[in-house]
Amino acid sequence: MNIILLGAPGAGKGTQASMLAEKYNLLHISTGDIFRANIKGGTEIGKLAKSYMDAGLLVPDSVTCDIVKDRLTWEDAQHGYMLDGFPRNLYQAGELDKFATVDLCLNIDVDVNLLMDRICGRRVCACGESYHVSTLNGKTTCAKCGGELYRRADDNPETVKARLNTYFEQTAPLIDYYKKQGKLLTVRGGKGSPNEVFAQICVELDKRI
Ligand code: AP5
Ligand code: MG
Repeated sequence: MNIILLGAPGAGKGTQASMLAEKYNLLHISTGDIFRANIKGGTEIGKLAKSYMDAGLLVPDSVTCDIVKDRLTWEDAQHGYMLDGFPRNLYQAGELDKFATVDLCLNIDVDVNLLMDRICGRRVCACGESYHVSTLNGKTTCAKCGGELYRRADDNPETVKARLNTYFEQTAPLIDYYKKQGKLLTVRGGKGSPNEVFAQICVELDKRI
């Protein structure tokens, strides 16, 4: 099964994808993570992506679509995957339809008022784990691997505002796009812990698998 994870910044796409990947044996492909790995590695793609990400804008479609198109040809992507953060506008969705089959679009719906606090309070570890400061009790290391926690470069109030604008202008129209195709599944991601949201998603997914 090939799933698209849709949701505003901070909706919980990454959090849910980690849990879903394990339970349903699906590959988790995050375009944001791919760009951050390129920035860390100092590649040309990373240099280009950084300027857009720091401004809360979308990295150009041509670059992003080529990356995803290539990634989906790898052997590990032949048995089902979740695309976290792609597509992010109607053009990308149209391109994706040319090189992949989308079975389901899982839309995580969260009240916009919750998002700023979630994102600005987020601390992440290089291993992929993420936390909220309110649950860390002053700890600065990862409970899973002991790595040092840090704040993502784009998790500051100014960039988050721009990311939210980008989401509402360019990404939210995809909700209708997938609804019209009969592929949309919307879950409420603003009430309940990550585990509770996960349980809600599993109930719905189990009906469709
Ligand atoms: P990306 O990395 O995809 O960021 P995003 O979409 O802004 O989303 P986030 O990763 O911030 O949030 P999330 O939904 O994953 O939430 P999380 O689970 O971490 O993209 C970054 C940038 O890359 C873009 O701005 C763009 O520039 C570029 N880019 C990426 N894809 C692109 C594309 N296709 N085209 C062009 N450019 C692209 O959760 C957030 C926080 O909330 C965490 O602290 C978590 O612990 C907490 N939390 C999660 N669930 C709950 C819950 N139920 N209750 C309480 N707290 C919760
Ligand atoms: Mg994410």
